Amino acid sequence: MTIPKAALLSLLPFLPGSHAWGTLGHDTVAFIAQNFISSSTATWAKTLLNDSSPAYLANVATWADSYRYTSEGAFSAPFHYIDAADDPPTSCNVDYDRDCGAEGCVVSALANYTVRVKSASVSTAEKQKALKWIIHFVGDIHQPLHDEALDVGGNTINVTFAGTGTNLHHIWDSNMPEKLIGGYSLTDAKNWASNLTAEIKTGGYKSEAAGWLSGIDENKPDGKATSLLWAKDANAYVCSTVVPQGADAVRGKELEGAYYDKAIPVIEMQIAKAGYRLAAWLNVLAMGKVGLKVRKEEYDHGYGHGNGRRGAGTVVQAVRVESRDEERIMMARRARAAYGWNCGPEGHAH
Ligand SMILES: *[C@@H]1O[C@H](CO)[C@@H](O)[C@H](O)[C@H]1NC(C)=O
Ligand SMILES: *[C@@H]1O[C@H](CO)[C@@H](O)[C@H](O)[C@H]1NC(C)=O
Ligand SMILES: *[C@@H]1O[C@H](CO)[C@@H](O)[C@H](O)[C@H]1NC(C)=O
Ligand SMILES: *[C@@H]1O[C@H](CO)[C@@H](O)[C@H](O)[C@H]1NC(C)=O
Ligand SMILES: [Zn+2]
Repeated sequence: MTIPKAALLSLLPFLPGSHAWGTLGHDTVAFIAQNFISSSTATWAKTLLNDSSPAYLANVATWADSYRYTSEGAFSAPFHYIDAADDPPTSCNVDYDRDCGAEGCVVSALANYTVRVKSASVSTAEKQKALKWIIHFVGDIHQPLHDEALDVGGNTINVTFAGTGTNLHHIWDSNMPEKLIGGYSLTDAKNWASNLTAEIKTGGYKSEAAGWLSGIDENKPDGKATSLLWAKDANAYVCSTVVPQGADAVRGKELEGAYYDKAIPVIEMQIAKAGYRLAAWLNVLAMGKVGLKVRKEEYDHGYGHGNGRRGAGTVVQAVRVESRDEERIMMARRARAAYGWNCGPEGHAH
């Protein structure tokens, strides 16, 4: 008797918060994308993923975080982030040549799998993996600490959250989203996605959502320039919101109060952006055009500055690389790789 792969996966021990953005964040991004992709894109994805269930994208949204810890998938560990060797909070920026190592990064990986998922010379099994990676990496690239080298993406900045010892990376991935939503089940993700979808269509994100799609080039096969823009967009929040007074100002601190209050609008907006952009990306892959399921006038605006209760605005900072500090970069890279291989007792994935 053969056991369906989905059933096997559900037998794996479930480790809450062990996934980048956490299960809640990744599943929510996937559900938002499901809400916006065209029906022909949905059919394409369901066929490739061999899943016609109501959670066909969400069901595979954290596969990449399990796969990276298998010996077969270990090569993909560096694909979950780009280690920007910038200097927060003074200067935030991402420089592809400086920050994407020879082993690859989230920007190069998205480009690779974007090409592979459509390539006639790639097997169906590998195309299926490519799609699962795209769904996951579009989520990862929107988590500011996935676009930052500082303290191994915040993994070595110990903090407490609601009295529990953890680290800065982990609270951005999981503790803060889970506090907002009150759980991390598939249903929690679906409900959060419904809310954020409504915020995009008619709520606080309506005026700025069109700007989120800016830079998506339907004629560029690998989309690398676009995902680099997204990495820069997320990285800017490291300076403005993640460590606005520097790492030492949060080290050892309890962050459930005022810090959480400032972070949560950015977290919600980054999840919303990731889902909306993933939908556009998948539509380009499947249909060759963005064509999201919203009325045209809803995405004909220019850049907005945010409104309503969220008010975090779109921060795409002009970037300038200050200096190349090769040694610092190599040290950061080694430290990050070590984390990728040994995720520790709490499973601090990055
Ligand atoms: C698709 O999934 C079904 C179970 O849902 C399974 O029986 C079938 O073998 C799968 N097909 C492929 C090509 O993986
Ligand atoms: C592209 O993906 C394939 C399959 O996962 C992998 O073997 C290869 O190393 C990747 N190349 C780059 C440049 O990321
Ligand atoms: C941070 O916490 C971890 C796990 O509790 C511990 O092993 C490590 O030594 C701590 N680091 C610092 C700098 O306190
Ligand atoms: C989303 O949820 C928030 C918090 O519960 C609520 O204030 C807001 O009105 C909801 N947005 C929509 C569009 O339903
Ligand atoms: Zn990841």
